[in-house]
Amino acid sequence: MHFYGTTAINKNGHLEIGGVDAVELTRDFGTPLYVYDVALMRERARGFKQAFEEQNIKSQVAYASKAFSTVAMVQLANEEGLSLDVVSGGELYTALAAGFPSERIHFHGNNKSREELEMALDNGIGCIVVDNFFEMELLKTICQKKNVNVNILLRVTPGIEAHTHDYILTGQEDSKFGFDLQNGQAEAALKTALQFDCFDVLGLHCHIGSQIFETTGFLLAAKKIVEQMAGWKNELGFEAKVLNLGGGFGIRYTKEDEPKPPSQYVSEIIREVKILTEQFALKLPEIWIEPGRSLVGDAGITLYQVGSSKEVPGVRKYLAIDGGMSDNIRPALYQAKYEAVLANKPLARTSETVSIAGKCCESGDMLIWDLPLPEAGKEDILAVFCTGAYGYSMSNNYNRLPRPAVVFVEKGKAILVVKRESYEDLVRLDLPLK
Ligand SMILES: Cc1ncc(COP(=O)(O)O)c(C=O)c1O
Repeated sequence: MHFYGTTAINKNGHLEIGGVDAVELTRDFGTPLYVYDVALMRERARGFKQAFEEQNIKSQVAYASKAFSTVAMVQLANEEGLSLDVVSGGELYTALAAGFPSERIHFHGNNKSREELEMALDNGIGCIVVDNFFEMELLKTICQKKNVNVNILLRVTPGIEAHTHDYILTGQEDSKFGFDLQNGQAEAALKTALQFDCFDVLGLHCHIGSQIFETTGFLLAAKKIVEQMAGWKNELGFEAKVLNLGGGFGIRYTKEDEPKPPSQYVSEIIREVKILTEQFALKLPEIWIEPGRSLVGDAGITLYQVGSSKEVPGVRKYLAIDGGMSDNIRPALYQAKYEAVLANKPLARTSETVSIAGKCCESGDMLIWDLPLPEAGKEDILAVFCTGAYGYSMSNNYNRLPRPAVVFVEKGKAILVVKRESYEDLVRLDLPLK
C-alpha cells in the first residue's frame, strides 16, 4: 500500500487525508468526491520553485491549469507564487475570476480565436505562446488595431517526443503544435515576428510529452533549441531571454512508476542549459517550466460508494462504484492504471481480486482491472489514488451523471471548492421544444 502526502490511517482505522477522515468526508459531501491534499500541492510547488531559487536561476514555474482548473486551485497556485499556463478562454476566465495576476499568465493553444486573443490582450496577459503563422498574423492585426504590444514566445517542435521511459527523435515532427525547428519553419516564424514592433519576442517554448520519468528527453530538447539559438544570435542578432521547456514531469500512479523528485528534473535541466549556453557564448536565459500533473496529480483522491457486483464464474468479479468514466476518463481514453483501497478499512486483509466498473453505459467504462481488495459491499468506500490531474478537468456528463464535488483538505479542515452538480444544473442550458 502506497500513501501520498498526508494520507494515512487514523485511530478509527479509516483513511485520512489532510488530517480529515475520508469516511466523514463522504458523509458530509457525498460520493463520488474529489479530495485534494493541499499540503502536498504546496510541497510540490515549493519543490519546483526552490530548485531554481537554490541555484539563483531566473525562472517561472507556471502551473499548467489544464490539469485541474478551478478558482480555488488557481488561487492556491497564486499563493505559492506560481505563474499560470492557460489554453483557452475558459481557463483564462477562471484565472481572472480567481484574481490571478494577468502578467503571470501564459496563453497557449494551437487555435486561439480572435475573441480569446482579444480577451488576453484586454486583460494584460503576461505572454502569448504563438503556435503557428495563422495565429501570428491574427495577433499582429489585433495588436495593431488596439495599438498594444505583447510579449510572445514561439512554440517550436524540436523533433523529440518523450513518454515515460521512452523518447524518440523524429526527423520532421508530425505534430499539430508549433513551428518545426528542423525544416526552417521556426526560423521563418522568428524572422516574421521580429519584423513587427507590436511583438516583444521573449524566446522559445517546447513541450515534448507527458508522464516522462527520464530527463534525457528534456536535455536533448534543450540542446536542440540552444544550438538553434546560437545560430540565430549570429545570423539575426536575436538572443532569447526565455527558454520554456514545458511540462510533462511524471508521477507515481502505480508501483510500476518511478518518477524523480521535482528538484532533480530541474537541477539536471539547469545544469544542461548552463553548459550549453557557456559552450555557445550565450547569456543564460530565464528558464521556465509548466508542470501540470506533477503539481496536482498525486494530491487527488476520488472517493466512491461501492454498489453492485457481478461474478463471471472462472473469469472475474466486477465491482461497481457510483462514478466512472464521467469523473475519470483516463482509463478508457488511454488505459491509465490506478491503485485503490477501501477507505473505511484500508488495513483489512485482501481476500479477492476484483475489477472496478464504472456506472456508465459503456463496456469500456472500467476504472481498474484486477485489483486485490478485501471483500467489499454497499457499506464500503473505495478510494482511488492519484486522480488529481486530468480527472475533474476532463470530467463530463455522459449518461447525464452530475459532476462530483471537489473538496480541499488541509490541517484537519475540509473546504468545499466546487459544488456537486444537481439534476437542475444538468438541464440548465436546455431549452424546451415549445
Ligand atoms: C504546452 C503544455 N504545457 C504543459 C503541459 C502539462 O503537462 P503535464 O501535466 O504532463 O505536466 C501540457 C500538457 O498537455 C502542455 O501541452
